[in-house]
Amino acid sequence: MLDRLGRDINYMRISITDRCNLRCRYCMPVEGVSLKEHREILSFEEIETLVRVSTELGIRKIRLTGGEPLIRRNLPDLVHSISRLEAIDDLAITTNGILFPALAAELKAAGLNRVNLSLDTLKNDRYQYITRGGDVSVVIKAMETALAEGLHPVKVNTVLIKGFNDDEILDFCRLAYNLPLHIRFIEFMPVGEVKYWNQDRIIKNSKVYETIGRHFSLKPGRISRGNGPAKYFEMEGGQGSVGFISPMSNHFCGECNRLRLTADGKLRACLYDGKERDLKEALRGKEPEESLKQIFMETILAKPERHAMGDKAWGARNRKMYQIGG
Ligand code: GTP
Ligand code: 5AD
Ligand code: SF4
Repeated sequence: MLDRLGRDINYMRISITDRCNLRCRYCMPVEGVSLKEHREILSFEEIETLVRVSTELGIRKIRLTGGEPLIRRNLPDLVHSISRLEAIDDLAITTNGILFPALAAELKAAGLNRVNLSLDTLKNDRYQYITRGGDVSVVIKAMETALAEGLHPVKVNTVLIKGFNDDEILDFCRLAYNLPLHIRFIEFMPVGEVKYWNQDRIIKNSKVYETIGRHFSLKPGRISRGNGPAKYFEMEGGQGSVGFISPMSNHFCGECNRLRLTADGKLRACLYDGKERDLKEALRGKEPEESLKQIFMETILAKPERHAMGDKAWGARNRKMYQIGG
C-alpha cells in the first residue's frame, strides 16, 4: 500500500521480545530494564495473524528483531508459520548472534531466508566492554555458520563510535574482502541509552567512505535482498561489500518502506515518531479482521514525512530501542 507521500510500505519489522542476553552500553542501562510480562507480549499465534492481515495491505518482507529475538522459545515455530505464507517473499532476523550457532540449522529448515548480525568490534576486550560481557568468538562463529548454512546475503551491522572502534574500519573491510559478507557501517543515533550517546561520538559515513577509499577501490553495488536504508559498495577483487546506513548525515525517510510492530503489539509507522496504535487490544478484544486492517491502513496513512532526530532529543517518554527493535 502507498502512503500519502507515495512510499510503498511493504516491509514490517517485528520486535518479538524486549529482553536481551547482552547489555550493550548504547542500548540498555547497567541497572537493567523493566521488561514486559509474558502476557503483555504477543503470542506466536497473534503475530502470525497480524502478519497475515498485513499481507493483505501489501507487506511482503518481514524482519524479526528484539531485544534479542533468538531468546524467544520455539522461535523456529514462528519462522515456519510466517515463511509458509505465500505473500511473504523475504523473512529475515536481526540478532546479536550469541545463540545463532546452535539454532541456525533449525531456523534455516523452518524457512528463514537470511540473517543480519550485530557486531561493533572484532576485538574481544572491546566486545566484552561494549556488550557488558559478550564473547566475540561466538559472533564470529555465527557469521561462519550463517555462510555455511547459505543464509545469503549475510550482513553485519557495525555501529561506529568515535574513540571506541573507528580504528577497526579497515579490519571490517578486510573481513568483507575475504568472505562474502556485507558489512554495514551505521551512524550512531541518539536512541536507546542516550546517556552513552554524545554528538562527538558520531562518525559521518562520508568520512568512513573516504577512509576506505584510500585503501580499496569502491564501486556502487547492489544486494539481492535488502529492504533497508543501506547503500552498498563493492571492493574491487573482494568477495563481499561494504554498506553505509546514514540516519544522521543523510536521512533516508523519503525512501522508507517500513512499519514496526512492538513486542507488546503496538504498530508504529516510524522508529522515531512516538505515535502508535494498539493492535494487541484490538486482537484480544476479538475485533473483526477488518478493523485490524483498518488500523494498519490508518497507521500507513499517518506515517510522518521524516524523523525529527537531531531536531530534538529522544524523549524520555519515547520507547527504548530494545522495545522497538531498531
Ligand atoms: P536489510 O533488509 O537487510 O537491508 O535490513 P535492515 O537494514 O532494514 O535491518 P537491520 O535490522 O539490520 O537494521 C540495520 C540498522 O538500520 C539498525 O541500526 C536500524 O536501527 C537502522 N534502521 C533500520 N530502519 C531504520 C529506520 O527506519 N530509521 C532509522 N533511523 N534507522 C533504521
Ligand atoms: N545507533 C545506531 N544503531 C543502533 N543499534 C542499536 N542502537 C543503536 C544506535 N543508538 C543497532 C544495533 C543493531 C540494530 C538492530 O540496531 O547495533 O545492529
Ligand atoms: Fe541487546 Fe541489541 Fe541492545 Fe545489544 S543493541 S543490548 S544486542 S538489543
